[in-house]
Amino acid sequence: MKALVLAAGKGTRLKPLTNTVPKHILPVGDKPVLFHVLNYVKEAGIKDIGIVVSPESGPYIEEAIGTGSEWGGQITFIVQHEPLGLAHAVKVAKGFLGDSPFLMLLGDNLVQEGVKDFLDEFHTSSSDASILLKEVPDPRAFGVAELDPSGKVIHMVEKPQKPKSNLAIIGVYLFTAEIHKAIAQIKPSWRGELEITDAIQKLLEMGKVIRSHLLQGWWLDIGSNDGLIEANRVVLDAFLERDIKGKVDKQSSIVGRVEIGEATEIENSLVQGPVFIAANCRIKNSLVKPFTNIRAETVVEDSSLERSVILENCQILKIKHLANSVIGKNTKLTGQDKDPGEACTEQSRRIRLFIGDDCKVEL
Ligand code: DAU
Repeated sequence: MKALVLAAGKGTRLKPLTNTVPKHILPVGDKPVLFHVLNYVKEAGIKDIGIVVSPESGPYIEEAIGTGSEWGGQITFIVQHEPLGLAHAVKVAKGFLGDSPFLMLLGDNLVQEGVKDFLDEFHTSSSDASILLKEVPDPRAFGVAELDPSGKVIHMVEKPQKPKSNLAIIGVYLFTAEIHKAIAQIKPSWRGELEITDAIQKLLEMGKVIRSHLLQGWWLDIGSNDGLIEANRVVLDAFLERDIKGKVDKQSSIVGRVEIGEATEIENSLVQGPVFIAANCRIKNSLVKPFTNIRAETVVEDSSLERSVILENCQILKIKHLANSVIGKNTKLTGQDKDPGEACTEQSRRIRLFIGDDCKVEL
């Protein structure tokens, strides 16, 4: 069994951040989203791992992963020159996959339960593909599966206008080598991509058995700014533990599950967990409210933050009520000495920003 992790694609819905950094290395909780995905592979005991990257994302991802020894296996990077679809990525990876069965994971999808049980189930069945499904209120943005009353998959379609069920296909798949025959028979969809959903539908038409497994826990797709903020909320809430390595002065108070990295200094501030603050940060005269993720080397002074992701080496100065925001690295946000909205309610004074790397903003 091999694993194929897809981390090419353009990350359009996370622009401007993804102009300079691939979404797969954006942080969710204490680590990049891709590291969570690679942890699933490790837990499943798969040692031969291929990662599909784009020419642009490749260097960043290779640098972030290094030798890959953390995942205890062999990592092969495979370049997909154009993001022509998930099935196209499998085609590009054929040399790596050979005739092996494989677990395919989207490098921006997280699942609460990991993938081990799903894999064990596949090993004991004689199917040619297995998909994970999740009930969602509006499945139109996803692949959608239709099941018969006995729970057998009977039809699949990518991003249908009129979905026949509320079962979204999520980014975890298991295949035997039969999938390559199916991919060879499909054509690009209306969005110009070779869809893996169409390839699985083709397998069905070839008379192959497709198993499905209904996911009960959460599923997070980090495709957009809101997706990134929500993923941080869920993952910080689920996994963060209290761990204070930095320095906290007597005027500060750290409440609940807060992780504070080495050499970070907290002065005259209140931090209400769950909050992750990485190493070498300085938080002074500030309020850091739940579900905030502050990356290394960042300075926050005279500010209040909530439910936001602040990347490395930022300066957030005199900014009141920054909420539900994503701030790219090396960015400086400066507010005014006097809070301009003193007469307003806190709700109406909230600032929401999505800012790429290397920006300067004065509010
Ligand atoms: O998130 C689940 C959905 O993922 C499924 O319900 C859909 O059936 C499936 O087609 C896919 O839809 P998206 O349109 O959301 O896929 P996206 O373009 O966001 O790409 C998913 C991941 O695959 C992402 O990490 C980038 C990577 N990728 C994408 C393309 C198009 C590649 O590595 N190569 C590609 O060519």
